[in-house]
Amino acid sequence: MQRGQFSSRLTFVLAASGSAVGLGNIWGFPTKAAENGGGAFLLMYLFLAFLLAYPALMAELTLGRYSRSNMVSTLDSIASGWLQKRLGQLTGFIGVLTATMILCFYSIIAGWMIAHTLASIAQTLQLFKIAEWLVTFSLFRNISFSTAFIGLTLLVISAGVERGIETWSKRLMPCLILLMLGLIVYVLLQPGAERGLKMFIVPDFRQLADPQLIVSALGQAFFSLSLGVGTMLIYGSYIRSDEDLPVAGALVTFSDTGVAVLAGMLIIPALFAAQQLGVDIYAETGRLISGPSLIFQALPALFEEMGEGGKLVAIAFFTLMSIAALTSSISMLEVPVSWAIETQNVTRLKASITVGVFTVLVSGVISYKFTSIFEIIVEVTTEWAQPILSLMLCLFCGWLMHRNRLLQELKQGVPDLESSLFWLIWPTYVKIFCPLLIVIILVQSFLPLS
Ligand code: PFF
Repeated sequence: MQRGQFSSRLTFVLAASGSAVGLGNIWGFPTKAAENGGGAFLLMYLFLAFLLAYPALMAELTLGRYSRSNMVSTLDSIASGWLQKRLGQLTGFIGVLTATMILCFYSIIAGWMIAHTLASIAQTLQLFKIAEWLVTFSLFRNISFSTAFIGLTLLVISAGVERGIETWSKRLMPCLILLMLGLIVYVLLQPGAERGLKMFIVPDFRQLADPQLIVSALGQAFFSLSLGVGTMLIYGSYIRSDEDLPVAGALVTFSDTGVAVLAGMLIIPALFAAQQLGVDIYAETGRLISGPSLIFQALPALFEEMGEGGKLVAIAFFTLMSIAALTSSISMLEVPVSWAIETQNVTRLKASITVGVFTVLVSGVISYKFTSIFEIIVEVTTEWAQPILSLMLCLFCGWLMHRNRLLQELKQGVPDLESSLFWLIWPTYVKIFCPLLIVIILVQSFLPLS
């Protein structure tokens, strides 16, 4: 069977950045930054994104391009001996399952974004009853919109790598950046916004040693670069052999962190602009509000106070959120779909529909039991599974794919790799330092320090 391939570096970077840039950047990053001291969190996040996440991303991309297959087959093929192979298959399989489970909860939040986009449109059209239903938390609304969102993702994925992932990433990513820049300019012009900007940009260096801040920034870096679950591995398997992988990986890391920084410049100033208008932005704990109350209460309150223009801003903001979520969910669905195509011998259409139906059912169950299981699933998949799987991928790349095989693979796109700084540092780094740092995160999450 002919495997799909990204046609150029640009399309790969757009698709991989599309995966990386999502609700994690526009919702997760600014709210975590707001909770953890603004500038100090930003500094730590940038440091860890390049120190830890970039090398781990390179491990995934290299493994994928070397084996040109899904996560399960990749880890199986580089392992030798019965035990290693079983471990490889198990790791790969948990990766596929984790990507699918992330899609199940992600689709619920993404569904809220679509519902809020439609609600803002309904408000503009003075359809207040419909708008009210769309913004009110209910089982029926949650299931309808998460199903619609999975349906959209399915449409893109069933069209394949070039016509689906590549075409839609190429269209949606520039829209996302433009919308975001427009919103930032608008929000920064609002009274009060400059206090938020200052909080976000000027670090309080004393906070940098806070263990809670470090753990939070580390987790954010993993989730944001979509690491551990095989998304970057499968996207790596679609890159051309003559592509310069270290540069392509660096571009993805830069765009992901760049969008997170832009999102911080949008959300935190918006929060302070909302306060100027009388919105309460501090929770009972004394910390800045975050999560759903920030996105679905404080910001809409700000938009409402802005009069007619605010309605358009609200539509633009929730459209931005929906687009970011879609380019990420595409990459999540590609993980189980590529696995099914390559190991179960089914067509792309059949694989997409089967996984799509499975995801709709599971996400329906999560919506039904929302208060008791939603948070547990988020925690298990993103705080435990992603770091453990990333650790395994670094170990497989560093210890089982011998240095010479790594060199040959990367050299196809960088003939003078041996004399580069990257080659001097990265192989040992991914073999020893990345796993060690990840173990530190795990220990921190098993034994919370605060
Ligand atoms: N990186 C995405 C975000 O920041 O929203 C989330 C994500 C995408 C996580 C793909 C995992 C994944 F496989």
